[in-house]
Amino acid sequence: MSGLVEVTREGRVALLRLNRPKQLNALNAALAAELVATVRALDADTSVGCMVVTGSDRAFAAGADIAEMADMSAEAMSEADYFGEWMDFANARTPKIAAVQGYALGGGCELMMMCDFAIAGQGAKFGQPEIKLGVVAGIGGTQRMTKLIGRARAMDMHLTGRMMEAAEALSAGLVARVVPDDEVLAEAMKAAAEIAGYARPVVRLAREAVMRAEEASLAEGLLYERRLFHQLFGTAAQREGMAAFLEKRPPRFNEA
Ligand code: HXC
Repeated sequence: MSGLVEVTREGRVALLRLNRPKQLNALNAALAAELVATVRALDADTSVGCMVVTGSDRAFAAGADIAEMADMSAEAMSEADYFGEWMDFANARTPKIAAVQGYALGGGCELMMMCDFAIAGQGAKFGQPEIKLGVVAGIGGTQRMTKLIGRARAMDMHLTGRMMEAAEALSAGLVARVVPDDEVLAEAMKAAAEIAGYARPVVRLAREAVMRAEEASLAEGLLYERRLFHQLFGTAAQREGMAAFLEKRPPRFNEA
């Protein structure tokens, strides 16, 4: 690992900080590979209950690295399946919270949307400016943004390439919370600790059930959720959670 992603641990929470600040955390192939490998490893570690992904105070990430991509051919892009490994980031079963300050543009905005939700600073700016570079989004921006904020708003962002401020992103549903810039990381770490305190298998199922809403019909999604709910009555987490409530004490999860 070459230090493009700094990992620190706080209890059951892993904090991943993108570390190319001079390039505004532009996502080159090396950073992408390191980030995806890091997330794969943390996802397999049962002592990790939640991840927080963050950047610098100036930029979460300003997009894919334009200098690296500029001279690539279509054949080379296709042969390398350029950024195809991001699927593993998105599909990691451990929840990921994006803690966003500054720019989240292009691939940076897409990275944020691959996280399960985002907490942004008041000064954060979001955009899919690929159209200005003569390309389109390539790591899910047209799909995930449309699911999150609807076709009209997603069209506006992808066709004009304009930036969206944090307040608009909150009202549109692109981010879950907006807080003062200097409170973003603390707020994200607090939310992550809360999630990591719940039963890990149940958190994973809850996440999967919500993600299912993007893939399945309503009837299929409702049945899936109800079956999960039934099955959880065979788990220690359900027994502990409900017993703790009835005994008026905090639940003790994850104490293997
Ligand atoms: C490579 C980048 C970069 C990027 C910034 N830098 N964004 N390098 N790729 N995406 C570099 C700049 O070249 C500069 O390096 C340094 O970071 C600081 O940036 P400045 O432009 O000097 O800063 P500022 O004037 O404050 O402007 C900030 C900015 C601007 C508005 C964010 O940098 C910008 O527009 N960046 C490009 C955003 C973008 O188009 N993103 C989409 C990329 S395409 P030097 O060496 O000059 O100091 C994409 C496709 C995804 O993401 C799909 C992939 C498959």
